[in-house]
Amino acid sequence: MDFSLSEEHLMIRQAARDFAQNELLPGVIERDDAQKFPAEQIKKLGELGFLGMMTDIKYNGSGMDTLSYVIAMEELSKVDASASVVVSVNNSLVCWGLEAFASEEQKQKYLTRLASGEVIGAFCLSEPEAGSDATSQKTTAIDKGDHYILNGTKNWITNGGTADTYLVIAQTDKEKGHKGINALIVEKGMPGFEIGPKENKLGIRGSDTHSLNFNDVKIPKENRIGEDGFGFKFAMKTLAGGRIGIAAQALGIAAGAYELALKYSKERKAFGTEIANHQAIAFKLADMHVQIEAARNLVYKSAWQKDQGLNYDLSGAIAKLYASKVAMDTTIEAVQIHGGNGFVKDYHVERLMRDAKITQIYEGTSEIQKIVISRSILKD
Ligand code: CAA
Ligand code: FAD
Repeated sequence: MDFSLSEEHLMIRQAARDFAQNELLPGVIERDDAQKFPAEQIKKLGELGFLGMMTDIKYNGSGMDTLSYVIAMEELSKVDASASVVVSVNNSLVCWGLEAFASEEQKQKYLTRLASGEVIGAFCLSEPEAGSDATSQKTTAIDKGDHYILNGTKNWITNGGTADTYLVIAQTDKEKGHKGINALIVEKGMPGFEIGPKENKLGIRGSDTHSLNFNDVKIPKENRIGEDGFGFKFAMKTLAGGRIGIAAQALGIAAGAYELALKYSKERKAFGTEIANHQAIAFKLADMHVQIEAARNLVYKSAWQKDQGLNYDLSGAIAKLYASKVAMDTTIEAVQIHGGNGFVKDYHVERLMRDAKITQIYEGTSEIQKIVISRSILKD
């Protein structure tokens, strides 16, 4: 077993680290305050190939493996999780989903522009009455021969206002349950497609979260992904990989907070010595370090399994469940280590703590990950 990273992986890590320090760090506090989408930064990430990392170069992607992607996610998330969620959604939910399941025509028309970062995408599964219970889709895509008529509401959609291409999950035949669900490619500007107001959030405030309304939107049949009734499987298979990306985001948030806490504890003095010399603080740092190391091993292992063509449903759920808990626990401790300074914006750790929470909610809550994990181990 070889745990070392290749030269290429080390280079990607350095490139993502440099980008995070030079391009994301300046203004990150102000963007969070103002809920400002990091538009310029996302454009640059696209130009550098970070928005289609795993997509084949023939579709304008970077042709890299999943391990490269999680390494980049980790580094970007140390500094700005509002930007890294855009990278995650575009890479693993939109580009990966299209490359794996779309037709060649759809790939040429949509994937090539998404993977290059010319436009960004959104993945639209959640609804006001269908979040965790994702098979209870109320949005309908009624079959009209050569097209579908789409009606309904999606909520919480990341990149909701800024995306150009939306992968929308909708019910075509209610009688067939989840086997009657389709995934459709919807373009911004299609008549009847309206974008709701931006959500005012606790964390990842720079990311662009909206509800979407569809009122008799006409979608050509050629925009359906896969066979009739494949939509729910499409969503589940795509989310299985997405969860590795969010696990990497959680890992990055935890590692970012830990690095800040470590540095601060060696500078701040109390009772005549640096606070790191107090065992209570040193032990907190030791716990953080161990948990982050364990989370990293789980995230990298799941990415490796995906790259090897092995099943990663279970390992992705484990990685997301664990890394998101580590993100929450670590950021809370990082605030504690910073004392009063941890409670104000200038020191970054309060933002990382707020950002950490979402990793236990989106792409399947922690409770849903436990459902996936328990079903898998009980089946075995
Ligand atoms: N791969 C392939 N097929 C899968 C699958 C997977 N990983 N998981 C489930 N399926 C299939 C099942 O095999 C079943 O098909 P068959 O009947 O043909 O066997 C079908 O899907 C339905 O599965 P279940 O009976 O297990 O369905 P369920 O109603 O019990 O729900 C669930 C399962 C895991 C809880 C699922 O509803 C779920 O994942 N919910 C969470 C939704 C979620 O993660 N939303 C995220 C939205 S995107 C997002 O959040 C992005 C972002 O923030 C940035
Ligand atoms: P609910 O499903 O109502 O759950 C409420 C609580 O009940 C949770 O604690 C949950 O774990 C628990 N619960 C529910 N069912 C069970 C059960 N069977 N057993 C045990 N506990 C259970 N969705 C998208 O489709 N695309 C996106 O881009 C996207 N981006 C998002 C961005 C943000 C900032 C947020 C907040 C959400 C985003 N989501 C997105 C939606 C997200 O995936 C859902 O919020 C999530 O799946 C939970 O659904 P819900 O909010 O309806 O909660």
